[in-house]
This record gives sequence, structure tokens and C-alpha cells, in this order.
Amino acid sequence: MAVETGKQLRHLAVIMDGNGRWAKKHGVARLEGHRAGAEAGKRIIELAGEFGIEYLTLYAFSTENWKRSAEEVNGLMRLLKEFIDYNLQVLQENNIRLRAIGRIAALPDESREALQRGIEQTKNNDGGNLILAINYGGRAEIVDAARKIAVAALNGKINPDELDETTFRDYLYAPDIPDPDLMIRTSGELRLSNFLIWELSYAEFYVTDTLWPDFDREDMAKAVDGFYHRERRYGGRLK
Ligand code: IPE
Ligand code: IPE
Ligand code: MG
Repeated sequence: MAVETGKQLRHLAVIMDGNGRWAKKHGVARLEGHRAGAEAGKRIIELAGEFGIEYLTLYAFSTENWKRSAEEVNGLMRLLKEFIDYNLQVLQENNIRLRAIGRIAALPDESREALQRGIEQTKNNDGGNLILAINYGGRAEIVDAARKIAVAALNGKINPDELDETTFRDYLYAPDIPDPDLMIRTSGELRLSNFLIWELSYAEFYVTDTLWPDFDREDMAKAVDGFYHRERRYGGRLK
């Protein structure tokens, strides 16, 4: 079998971790860390454009993050609304389309409405894609897909015997988006934390000790350069 060594970095997915540690290090409240994290979010949107990345997925809030204090969760939800409102102009200027993956219906009204506004207003932009993973869990995504598939099977629209990986993928949150080529996690943790568990099957991983609010062009250049020095084998052999 010919091995596809495709080296193009089309889709970058990021676990933006370390806002709390950054706040602690600077002796400020956790929410200040999240605020600084939102600034870094704006920065990476611009960097993605510079590096020719077509799809940028940012893990903003996981299905497990509801376990945090009400104060932190509310603060994060407010910040999310602000982040979208504040960056809408940046998205428009850079012709970037906003999308979201996750259980969006369960978000507080204000955050959900800001998100839907942003998605609606940028839907015709074709210069790049920003995908926010909000109330997102990889297992939840697979369960949601399985539910839709079960309904389709009950309605006679799919035959269980014919279900394969390609068909299954069609029921995920954003089947038209190619799988990430590279996943960056900041703050040094060596785990997925329920992020894109289906889609990251063959992604390259890059973990840096840099705390998310400090992530800058130099970190990005290192991650991207590292990616281009990897050999992607997809289980086959190099020619
Ligand atoms: C990541 O930073 C932001 C979210 C999970 C929303 P954390 O808040 O997890 O920061 P640490 O891991 O406590 O440093
Ligand atoms: C992952 O970070 C979620 C986001 C960055 C949104 P967490 O801080 O929630 O992950 P754990 O708890 O360290 O696994
Ligand atoms: Mg964390």
C-alpha cells in the first residue's frame, strides 16, 4: 500500500491549558488567568492565518469543566460571550468563518446567542475557519453520533451492516472538517482530556510547558516546525 506522507498542516487543534497556573504565578484571580487566555486566543487566530492554517480548533470548555465552581463557570461563560463579540471584527477583517462543536444547546442563553450570532454573521467567509469546542467532550460527541445513527437505523435510513468509519464520521459534529494534523497542548500535561478523541487518531502531538496565556509566535513557530519534521506513517511504511 502506498503511504500517504501528506505533510500539509491544514488543521491545528489546541488544548489551551494553564490559565489557572498562570493566574497563580502572577498572584491574581483565576478569572484574570482566563482573561489573559482569551488574549492568547485572539493571538493564535491571527497566527493561524500567518502560518497558512485553514482550520483552527480551540478547546474552550469541556463537558467536564462544569465541575468547577459556579463562580469560575459563570466567569468563563461571560468571557466566552465577550471573546466572540470582541473578536467578530477580527474574524470579519480576516474573512474567517466561526463554527462551534459541542453540546451548544446546553449553554447559558447569552453565550449561546453570541455564538450563534457570530456563526451567522461569518457564515459566508471563506478565508479560514475558527472552530470553538465549547461544552465539548469527545465521548459525548461519539454518543451523540451513535444516537443519530440509531434513529436513522430505526427509520430505515441506514443499514447497520453497512455502517463503516466513513458513514459513522458523517454523524459527528463537523464531518466536513478534515481531521486535525497537529494537536498542541500547553502547560505540559500529557493527556487528551476528552478532546476530539475520534478525530485525533492520527494527529501529531506537540506539548509545551508554556502556560496558555504566554503562548506566542515563537511557541507557534516551534510547534509548526516540529510538525514538518515528523514522519506521518498512518500505520504503513515509508516508501
Ligand atoms: C484552561 O486553563 C482553561 C479551561 C479549562 C477553561 P485551566 O483553568 O485548566 O488552567 P490550569 O490547568 O488550572 O492551570
Ligand atoms: C482541558 O483542560 C479543557 C480545556 C482546555 C478547555 P482541563 O484543565 O480541563 O483538563 P484536565 O482537568 O487537566 O484534564
Ligand atoms: Mg487545566
